[in-house]
Amino acid sequence: MIIPRKALAALAAALAIPAAAAEPVRVGLVAPFSGTAADYGRQMEGGIKAYFKLHGDTFAGRKIEILVRDTTGPNPEIAKRLAQELVTRDKVDFLAGFGFTPEALAAAPVATEAKKPMIVMNAASSVVTTRSPYIARFSMALPQVSAPMATWAARNGIRKVYTLVADYAPGIDSETAFKAAFTVAGGEVVDSVRVPLRNPEFAPFVQRIKDARPEAVFMFVPAGEQSIAFMKAFEERGLAKAGIQVIATGDLTDDQVLNAMGDPVLGVITSHHYSAAHDSPENKAFLQAWAEVNKDLKRPNFMGVGGYDGMAAIAEVVKKLGDNIDPDKAMEILKNLKLASPRGPIAIDPATRDIVQTVYIRKVEKIDGILYNVEFDKFPDVRDPGK
Ligand code: PHB
Repeated sequence: MIIPRKALAALAAALAIPAAAAEPVRVGLVAPFSGTAADYGRQMEGGIKAYFKLHGDTFAGRKIEILVRDTTGPNPEIAKRLAQELVTRDKVDFLAGFGFTPEALAAAPVATEAKKPMIVMNAASSVVTTRSPYIARFSMALPQVSAPMATWAARNGIRKVYTLVADYAPGIDSETAFKAAFTVAGGEVVDSVRVPLRNPEFAPFVQRIKDARPEAVFMFVPAGEQSIAFMKAFEERGLAKAGIQVIATGDLTDDQVLNAMGDPVLGVITSHHYSAAHDSPENKAFLQAWAEVNKDLKRPNFMGVGGYDGMAAIAEVVKKLGDNIDPDKAMEILKNLKLASPRGPIAIDPATRDIVQTVYIRKVEKIDGILYNVEFDKFPDVRDPGK
């Protein structure tokens, strides 16, 4: 009998590696990977790589395959189109990523229509998780990190605050939550300003704040180069010398840009869910894996840990569901998930599919000549008070 060569090869391959029959689990990672917010996507992907380094990339015999898609954003239209292509053409099992709220909001109906679990690794406006029953969030909500800053400030003798936020949903959430919590605690928001999301010129706003003579300015702008521009204007206009303190969400002192901000940022107090300086065995392991697989990204920031935890969540689902990733069963698993994250303990609230976590109060300090957000106080088990 003559067996065709091709058939023989196929037979041999099948016999040698039977596990190869298992289809990979496909995860579409939608985030900016170029442009001014390129670090958002790079951090998330860096977190995923660190997860694979520590735990492998195959669960229940199925390898996890990441399909990276660049929104060049913030760009909601592109995010939506990429999400659509990922579900229809690439047949992904999960959508993941989403740095900016408007991108997550644009993709949410795609997740609903296609019944694909959508793992949010950053987008942090309160409303995000309400936009699809297939969304679970592994990052933060702006009100969740802003309210503790207000409570801490009031408890520590700060009475008059001026707020400055980026003029889009996360900024407005942050301003609203800060005001509510600060007023309840006996403080007063003397004035508020909202600045454009893209390329704000901070100097005139900072001058107005100086003229109003508050004790502190509370601020939120999306992580990245705006932080550097804000601190530069703050320094140049002499606000610190005028006795005005900066308090902010940790987006301002994001670990990725912290050292580029230089000494003007020393002593700035922020509230957030992750610092690279977090002292725990889980974070030590994470930092070590990070350094091995992300040579060009010095440290993880909160989007890096969002990528790590989002991938941990996907791995839990794959371990339990194996060959058949049923979307509704996947959501049941995600809704009841509890993980020991590098940031501390995290859980998903089954009612909202949003994260419950510790919010830390941190101060920028220099350790061996390098700037870090050093945690010194904390609010455990914080939910999004915006819901
Ligand atoms: C958002 O658009 O939801 C967003 C972006 C950057 C941040 C925080 C929130 O640092």
